[in-house]
Amino acid sequence: LKVDWDADSAEKEGFDHFMLKEIYEQPTALRNTLKDKFESDKVNLPDLNIDSEYLKGVNKIAIVACGTAWHAGLVGKHLFETLLRIPVEIDIASEFRYRNPLVDEKTLVIVVSQSGETADTLAAMRDSQKKGAKVLAVTNNKGSSIARESEFIFHTIAGPEIAVASTKAYTTQLMGFYLITLYFGQLLGKEMPKELYDGLKEIPVLADKVLQNTKDQLDKITAPFDGWDNSFFIGRGMDWYVSQEGSLKLKEISYIHAEAYAAGELKHGTLALIEQDIPVVAVATQQDIYDKTVSNIKEVKARGGYVIAVVQEGDEDISHSVDEVIKIPKVPSLLTPILSVIPLQLLSYKEAVKRGQDVDKPRNLAKSVTVE
Ligand code: AGP
Repeated sequence: LKVDWDADSAEKEGFDHFMLKEIYEQPTALRNTLKDKFESDKVNLPDLNIDSEYLKGVNKIAIVACGTAWHAGLVGKHLFETLLRIPVEIDIASEFRYRNPLVDEKTLVIVVSQSGETADTLAAMRDSQKKGAKVLAVTNNKGSSIARESEFIFHTIAGPEIAVASTKAYTTQLMGFYLITLYFGQLLGKEMPKELYDGLKEIPVLADKVLQNTKDQLDKITAPFDGWDNSFFIGRGMDWYVSQEGSLKLKEISYIHAEAYAAGELKHGTLALIEQDIPVVAVATQQDIYDKTVSNIKEVKARGGYVIAVVQEGDEDISHSVDEVIKIPKVPSLLTPILSVIPLQLLSYKEAVKRGQDVDKPRNLAKSVTVE
């Protein structure tokens, strides 16, 4: 009997790397995370076990996480503050635990962790509980310490994530934040935008569309990185949070230094680093601040930067101001991160492969950071 595959590649189901497989699993992971969460067009999260009486007594939310999970938390903060008008603090767990944060029984602490075992996140959670706060865990691992010790859980149904670089865990964490925000809004008796309910249901199909559309553009959008060990990711608001995740992906698997910058902050120092043909990824999907981002893009172009823009479909003007354009389907501005991150994941993956790096197991990094 002759077999021309091995156990390892069989697990990768024909993909060259786990990371690529996991990027392509996102439509399914998102669909699974959404499954059974809607009831008569409202979000229903009975498993969360949070009641409106408790929620009405919460006067502050603190989001705590590390790395990619922290990037998902940035989007969560924006959603809670925009739609619920509850003040939100967000911290990196290793900072939070040593700064004696202002947390009490009126604070809802939300910890985000794919593995549910990250040492700093777990310690931050335990400290918060000692101060009287209740903890909501957004995790992909039901049996983990964080899941077991939290008062409330939102379980992301991403399935096992093997590659060190997190992809489907991030997009399902975002899905978790959208669902939790809408659910909290309902519990608090607030009117939530209908377009978000409708848009969320479409996300798995649209994520698939982004994967298909970006596939053929990868050679073109990675070419500008040839010969460079430095790059920038810029954006405003939601686009800035996604830029931070895009830059982390590029750093961790292709070892290219990538600085994520709030576009409006460039001229306060970092613009000095823009030189002829340096690659700059500009995410410009936020309609209310679109013109502001485009003027920052023009500042970069004027200094010679090579700009690859991620915009929404229907944006015909951007091609006059940039070198390459990646389009994502049109969705409400608050929903774009879950789609705009996908081309950035693919870009990092492709660039790492081109450079011959160990994509699934980048140097110096572990999948789960269980020690300080
Ligand atoms: C992401 O690509 C990283 N590998 C890393 O930042 C990760 O998200 C972080 O270590 C947090 O892990 P957790 O979600 O398991 O807590």
